[in-house]
Amino acid sequence: MAKADILPATPNAIAHAAKLLRAGQLVAFPTETVYGLGGDATNDGAVAAIFAAKDRPRFNPLIVHVPSLSEAEGLAAFDQRARIAAQHFWPGPLTLVLRRRDDCGVSLLASAGLATIAVRVPVHPVAQALLRATGRPLAAPSANRSGRVSPTEASHVAAELGERIALILDGGSCAVGLESTVLDLTGATPTLLRPGGVTMEALTALLGPIAVGDSDPDAPRSPGQLASHYAPRLPLRMAATAPQPGEALLAFGPHPVSGFVETLNLSAKRDVTEAAANLFAMLRRLDRPDFTGIAVMPIPDSGLGRAINDRLRRAAAARP
Ligand code: TXA
Ligand code: MG
Repeated sequence: MAKADILPATPNAIAHAAKLLRAGQLVAFPTETVYGLGGDATNDGAVAAIFAAKDRPRFNPLIVHVPSLSEAEGLAAFDQRARIAAQHFWPGPLTLVLRRRDDCGVSLLASAGLATIAVRVPVHPVAQALLRATGRPLAAPSANRSGRVSPTEASHVAAELGERIALILDGGSCAVGLESTVLDLTGATPTLLRPGGVTMEALTALLGPIAVGDSDPDAPRSPGQLASHYAPRLPLRMAATAPQPGEALLAFGPHPVSGFVETLNLSAKRDVTEAAANLFAMLRRLDRPDFTGIAVMPIPDSGLGRAINDRLRRAAAARP
């Protein structure tokens, strides 16, 4: 395939993208979290093409995106608790795992054969406009090769998937910078399957106690929990307090540890929201063969810091 067009997300470009999607093609588009690789969720061929473009294992199900709660109710069974969560956090960076409706029309491949479906209503205006123009639910994993760092700029998508997809809609940098929180509401207690853009603190305030999903690496309930994931090519080391030869530093706070060959600061003012927005783009910038590894300073494990540390732990995990 020729290299994907990258178009600024104007109304014309969005209309063109919607036409491609309705014809079963793949389009990458911005959301408030990360860029998604979109395909018509009701089209088996399009969903299969998403797995192929990402080299994604077929057992790892996709999130289905819709423009509002009312469309989501056509795909999944919402009880009172799910409706409260949706009304509070949608549109926004929360994905709900719910029982799939038999008549939802979504390809079984998108759910990887599970009886559940992951649904999300993004707040980004380009994602909203594209969903409404397409008039179909869009399956959209992050627009990176499986296991690698998620894209937060159109150029990242081009580098990862440029030869494999038709079009990239450019909507600038993603404001949140980390993927959505994945919350399973199929059991008695809400279960966090992936920390993300909506914090544990905010979920607990609304829903009460939240369980944290098991991450049995052989049978992940949410394969984003696979031990090695979100990984740069270089080895990554957390909680660094001193340099090792040739390492680059991802700093946090006003006093970066000195002695590294290169330093980027996630947030000089110790703001985890700013750090989340910078994380993936800075990891990419430091992921260069002229360094021996990437060291990261300690980051507080609360609010968005929990999701940052989750991604860093997976990036640091031993590679298969
Ligand atoms: O922020 C996001 O969620 C982005 C943007 C594009 O919306 N999308 C995203 O998709 O991160 P992806 O495919 O990279 O991650 C989806 C996560 C995976 O960990 C997957 O295993 C989990 O959601 N998931 C999807 N369907 C599921 C289901 N039925 N049950 C449990 N986990 C599910
Ligand atoms: Mg992903």
